[in-house]
Amino acid sequence: MNICFVGTGYVGLVSGVLFSDLGNTVYCVDNNSEKISKLKQGIVPIYEPGLEELVKKNYNAGRIIFTSNLSEAVRKSDIVFIAVGTPTSKDGLSADLHGVYEVAKSISNNLNSYKLIVTKSTVPLGTGDEVEKILLRKNKSNMFDVVSNPEFLREGEAIRDFKYPDRIIIGTNNSKKVSSVMEALYQPIIKKGGKFIVVQRRAAELIKYASNAFLATKITFINELANLCEKTGINIEDISLGIGTDARIGSRFLRAGPAYGGSCFPKDTKALTKTASKFDVSLNLVNSVIKSNESRSDLITSKILKILKKPKNKKIGFLGVTFKANTDDMRDSSSLKIIPKLIKKGCLISYYEPTGNKKILDKYKGVKNFSNIKDLANYSDLLIIHTEWDEFKSINFEKLTQNKKLQIFDLRNLYQPDAFLNKKIKYYSIGRPFNV
Ligand code: UGA
Repeated sequence: MNICFVGTGYVGLVSGVLFSDLGNTVYCVDNNSEKISKLKQGIVPIYEPGLEELVKKNYNAGRIIFTSNLSEAVRKSDIVFIAVGTPTSKDGLSADLHGVYEVAKSISNNLNSYKLIVTKSTVPLGTGDEVEKILLRKNKSNMFDVVSNPEFLREGEAIRDFKYPDRIIIGTNNSKKVSSVMEALYQPIIKKGGKFIVVQRRAAELIKYASNAFLATKITFINELANLCEKTGINIEDISLGIGTDARIGSRFLRAGPAYGGSCFPKDTKALTKTASKFDVSLNLVNSVIKSNESRSDLITSKILKILKKPKNKKIGFLGVTFKANTDDMRDSSSLKIIPKLIKKGCLISYYEPTGNKKILDKYKGVKNFSNIKDLANYSDLLIIHTEWDEFKSINFEKLTQNKKLQIFDLRNLYQPDAFLNKKIKYYSIGRPFNV
């Protein structure tokens, strides 16, 4: 099939490249010509393990065309995916849909044959109806169908999530015609076990937000229980195991940590509550999840201050600063909330980050970036394990550092407290007895 992805951000690029890897001809369109020329040279603007190789392989095979010429790409395609960003608007809650509607207008001018117009961007319910209205201004209704096909790719795991999804959601108000085309497109993935689910278009739009809000709720639930465990001498991992083995609950997304972050959960939970309020519905549970998650950085900071006792001029080294492992993404990372609070208390911040220096931290005077774990550990009074990169999981801290007074606060529970018994290094973690 000939497919077009408008927007070569995270969603558009990953999905476009992987559809080309399945043998389709894919036009990846972006109005950022610098990005397009870099992609043509095999330079991938985002960090995603395995993606660069796939870009090069499929570009060299002629299955991907990187272009800024939207008109030509749309005209030559049977299916056009809208995959532009929907960041939080100025009101701080709702999704900004300008990009989506602008693309819909451009597509509208280029409908030279029947096409499926598919929204992959995360959009609130009702957006497909608006896209349809835009297309109807210039085109007859038999020239297109507007479909919702939300993505469920996790950063750092996107290739696997694309190839082996739990489900593929198709939202359409014209299910007969649309679902056979979409089913044919996804056939290689369906064959491997991905469930193909067809629902009304608005339902598909809501499924995306409901999934992210539910996962955010699960994480927040376990984070709050971790607080209780710390005060009652219980290990949160026992709770995650004990409840997660109930198939009705499920074991995934029950890892306590420093608060959820990233470009999706914080944005999508807020946009969902905003959408609900437009329909006069209060999503009290999601609202309190947002509040609980936002206040978690205060809680973590107060624990750090407790460990330090006298924070002024204490050296704090972060192992990892991105919002999770296997990504270079700093968006809504908990480190960005904790670090300024510690600086205010007079702490001296440094970090080692597997994906290199983070520009956003350069604005804080005195924040140091170390290029290896050893130097950071020898320099720091307190090491904070902030992200769960594999390279942080089996460090022999005693061997690594001569720093006998080192303290460690493990925000991802990568180590067992027993391993530090009778050692000079003091170890603290999340959701386990926390004594200072
Ligand atoms: C999330 C969803 O998992 C994807 O299905 C979805 O497609 C994507 O958002 C999106 O809407 O585009 P992502 O933001 O890449 O993916 O990251 P996750 O792996 O879901 O992690 C989100 C946050 O939750 C991270 O800060 C992570 O550290 C935290 N988390 C996750 C926990 O604290 N505990 C857990 O058990 C799991």
